[in-house]
Amino acid sequence: MNILVTGSLGQLGSELHELQSSQRTHRFFFTDLPEFDITDVDAATAFCREHEIGAVVNCAAYTAVDRAENEVAAAFRVNRDGAAALANAAKAVGALLLHISTDYVFDGESCRPYSESDPVSPGGVYGQSKWEGEEAIRRIGPSYMIIRTSWLYSAYGQNFVKTMLRLGRERESLGVVFDQTGTPTYARDLASAIIRILERFDPKRRYAETYHYSNEGVCSWYDFATAIMHAAGLSCRVNPIETADYPTPARRPHFTVLNKRKIREAWELDIPHWHEALLKMLGGMEKEEPG
Ligand SMILES: NC(=O)c1ccc[n+]([C@@H]2O[C@H](COP(=O)([O-])OP(=O)(O)OC[C@H]3O[C@@H](n4cnc5c(N)ncnc54)[C@H](OP(=O)(O)O)[C@@H]3O)[C@@H](O)[C@H]2O)c1
Repeated sequence: MNILVTGSLGQLGSELHELQSSQRTHRFFFTDLPEFDITDVDAATAFCREHEIGAVVNCAAYTAVDRAENEVAAAFRVNRDGAAALANAAKAVGALLLHISTDYVFDGESCRPYSESDPVSPGGVYGQSKWEGEEAIRRIGPSYMIIRTSWLYSAYGQNFVKTMLRLGRERESLGVVFDQTGTPTYARDLASAIIRILERFDPKRRYAETYHYSNEGVCSWYDFATAIMHAAGLSCRVNPIETADYPTPARRPHFTVLNKRKIREAWELDIPHWHEALLKMLGGMEKEEPG
């Protein structure tokens, strides 16, 4: 089967690019801006037809959570309208659309892990734009799977782990919030789950599924930062601070642990614990550093 990956220069797209080289079942087409803009429905449909695409993995998104508060139109253009354009393209050619969404569709007021059927209530522009992208896909109705994930990081791109590694080398101490709880997701593990789904899904079946995926376990950003410093052998001291002490333009949900039972059971996934995943990511980065 031929598979289109959009936003392939981002964290998740790059991990998919790296992983697919070891599997032979499918042929992948990796695309990103400026050549492939997901908001151009005609170009996306033409691409899918020309290359006989059987599945589209949408890794493209506007992911600047704070900037989105001021760049509302840009966030909605990519996260809602882009998702809709790909849904139309996938529907036109009968392809599966595998779309990535976010834990930020929830308001974070719960104290038990969120299931796929829990009510959403996004607290900012980014979360709202991602939610409306999900809804557009459901309304347009191609065969689809929406996978919500949280706290994504990778050796590629910019993310919390890389920021902590940089600050850990520059500073003696730093404050990190301890009252936001969730689960980090190593993008390599999510990419691996996506590859498994692509190898096992039935192209003749019509899917209309929403899933949650992160690594296993629970932590605060403070716990995560502390684990990063320890694992990287950095002596920078991490101090717990409250969200109120670290104001950001976009409001962050306090609790977004995702319940992953549905995806784990449906696709028989063995999901690594977040700490194990972190060590794997840092080990990989060490190997790549010269000397
Ligand atoms: N990062 C997180 O913590 C997090 C958490 C939960 C869910 N997610 C979701 O997970 C998915 C993957 O995130 P990620 O961190 O891998 O994202 P990322 O690193 O920001 O990559 C997104 C890619 O999409 C590209 N892109 C933006 N607009 C596009 C357009 N109109 N057409 C085609 N490509 C476009 C970006 O290009 P430019 O760089 O040139 O804009 C970038 O290469 C996204 O759906 C995101 O919402 C992320």
